[in-house]
Amino acid sequence: MSYRLLEGKKGIIFGALDHKSIAWQVAERAHEEGAVFTLSNTPAAMRFGKIAELAEKTHSEIIPADATNVEDLDHVFQRSMELLGGKVDFVLHSIGMSLNVRKKRVYNDLNYNYLDKTLDISAISFHKMLQVAFKMDAINEWGSVLALSYIAAHRVHYGYNDMADAKALLESIARSFGYIYGRERKIRVNTISQSPTLTTAGSGVKGVQGLMDFTNRMSPLGNADALECANYCIVMFSDLTRKVTMQNLFHDGGFSNMGMSLRTMKIYNKSLDVDHEIE
Ligand SMILES: NC(=O)c1ccc[n+]([C@@H]2O[C@H](COP(=O)([O-])OP(=O)(O)OC[C@H]3O[C@@H](n4cnc5c(N)ncnc54)[C@H](O)[C@@H]3O)[C@@H](O)[C@H]2O)c1
Repeated sequence: MSYRLLEGKKGIIFGALDHKSIAWQVAERAHEEGAVFTLSNTPAAMRFGKIAELAEKTHSEIIPADATNVEDLDHVFQRSMELLGGKVDFVLHSIGMSLNVRKKRVYNDLNYNYLDKTLDISAISFHKMLQVAFKMDAINEWGSVLALSYIAAHRVHYGYNDMADAKALLESIARSFGYIYGRERKIRVNTISQSPTLTTAGSGVKGVQGLMDFTNRMSPLGNADALECANYCIVMFSDLTRKVTMQNLFHDGGFSNMGMSLRTMKIYNKSLDVDHEIE
């Protein structure tokens, strides 16, 4: 259903790889809600992913960029303003990658070159994006910038590895830049902390199927999927959330405030073969 929440708004969406990507779902929903936008991803992702299909569907141009490269980001913002006819109103950073995870280097045996890349791709690229946009004055007053985070930024999640450090940094950047962007330009900067979701990046997390079952049982509303995350992003890009900034917003069915749930307790007790009365 469309509420035309983004009618007349312009944006840039980074990180759509295939239809499972959170950014893909955001692009489809933003299109339905009346926004116009450009898409960006790495040249490699453009070769291996399906982003051209998305561009056609949403009448968008693709601007290739490595989000760790400031010149590339300069080009994305400059070209987006040319194509869209002025400053943008929203930006989505939906980017994450860890070579330590990919190459199965555990947290107490990290490769530090990989760690540098994890932090640069998954967190510092957000600062680079914000700084490029700020210097270029590329975002309209009351604009909204979002990045996607995960609860492992706050609490240890086995197997999330150096991505936990990247997410902690990402959330800190949202707060620090959010203060400056709010003070100087009335622009809001937030992160959304999403449930585990079966995407290309999500599938890289160790034991993701078990993790998703666990978080689903723990969350009173169940896991949030990629489309539900996209809907939350749309609200955050809309004018209905103008005074929300510098926040890490949990979008996880309640998981982040749970300690133990009935549905999890049942499974746990069964695995221990304990005959407990559970109400
Ligand atoms: N899937 C989950 O369980 C989950 C949960 C919480 C948060 N997130 C976050 O959501 C965001 C999107 O991930 P997703 O789950 O949609 O997976 P995805 O694999 O579809 O998206 C990750 C994107 O990052 C892009 N990327 C990687 N390196 C890049 C670079 N150097 N420059 C530009 N782009 C680059 C990839 O091409 C890809 O499009 C990530 O920040 C991820 O950490 C995912």
